[in-house]
Amino acid sequence: MAYTIVAERPGNSDVIRKLDIAMPVPNQGEVLLRHTAIGVNFLDTYFRTGLYPWSVEKNLTLGSEAAGVIEAIGPGVSGFSVGERVAYTTANGAYASHRAIGSQHLIKIPDGVSDEVAAASVLKGLTAHYLLHDSFAVNDSHTVLFHAAAGGVGMIVGQWLAAKGVRAIGTAGGAEKCALALQNGFGDMIDYRSENFVERLRELVPGGVDVVYDSVGKDTYPGSLHCLKTHGSLVTFGQASGPATDFKLSDLAAGSFHVTRPVLFHFTALPGWLQKASSELFSLIADGSIKIHVNQTYALSDAAQAHDALESRKTTGCTVLIP
Ligand SMILES: NC(=O)c1ccc[n+]([C@@H]2O[C@H](COP(=O)([O-])OP(=O)(O)OC[C@H]3O[C@@H](n4cnc5c(N)ncnc54)[C@H](OP(=O)(O)O)[C@@H]3O)[C@@H](O)[C@H]2O)c1
Repeated sequence: MAYTIVAERPGNSDVIRKLDIAMPVPNQGEVLLRHTAIGVNFLDTYFRTGLYPWSVEKNLTLGSEAAGVIEAIGPGVSGFSVGERVAYTTANGAYASHRAIGSQHLIKIPDGVSDEVAAASVLKGLTAHYLLHDSFAVNDSHTVLFHAAAGGVGMIVGQWLAAKGVRAIGTAGGAEKCALALQNGFGDMIDYRSENFVERLRELVPGGVDVVYDSVGKDTYPGSLHCLKTHGSLVTFGQASGPATDFKLSDLAAGSFHVTRPVLFHFTALPGWLQKASSELFSLIADGSIKIHVNQTYALSDAAQAHDALESRKTTGCTVLIP
């Protein structure tokens, strides 16, 4: 028997249900995966609440990253075999015991990387990859401010920036989260629940930073703009506190600022990007340069609890669901 975890309709975590389904059959170009671990992302909550639009009227299968074992191969698939361990990221559909999925999404998991680590890091690690290389190409001459530094994406970014020799300042809510981020690559931390992060940042870097990575949204914008040096860049890539609705193009005139609002799936769709970026990511994980902290694990059927923990800011690092 196979099952999926769906949001019956847009809403709070009480719309999440387990749905028994027939075992999926791989069509042309697809493989059948038995999921072994599934990553939880803030993105999943945006779909659950309806902040992001649905492709179906009801019973949306949530979930955007997972790892599993290939159980069957459909017609027209080459380069994969039954029994191989693979991971992937797609916008939805990962909260499931089994899934038929197009082979173009698959990334082979190297030896030395566990299924749980792969499931926790594909979406978040590939996001870190494009943030630091494509949205703004960071190098060791730059100073960076990164919000929500103790979160899933944040702890990967911190270690990656440290490996590049970049000065990284993070924000997080509370002393424990700040301490954790300091152990994961950030050189300075600001507790933005008890301190004014703009004032503290200006004490640390009087001239302002080269780039602010902001996934918090409403609560941090426009403070993020006030942390930039002239000609600095704002990379706004999420809205954990709600969308920043007060953005005006004229705000950028304060320092000839640049702004971009990237989405991971626009990078994974670029020819060759997914395989190149995932190979670089998994190499850094396999050789220990980047440690993936799976700090919360739930049964897949308890996905609602995982959403509650993430949305109430109780989590650090990555969260994984086990079918
Ligand atoms: N655009 C893309 O391609 C892309 C891809 C992946 C992720 N993202 C975005 O990146 C961000 C991080 O994703 P993640 O899955 O790794 O999540 P996460 O960082 O583990 O969790 C979100 C964090 O945001 C902070 N936060 C601040 N205000 C909040 C509020 N009002 N409610 C809830 N949390 C709040 C919390 O940290 P503190 O307690 O420290 O404040 C919370 O732990 C999300 O905004 C996500 O949407 C975007």
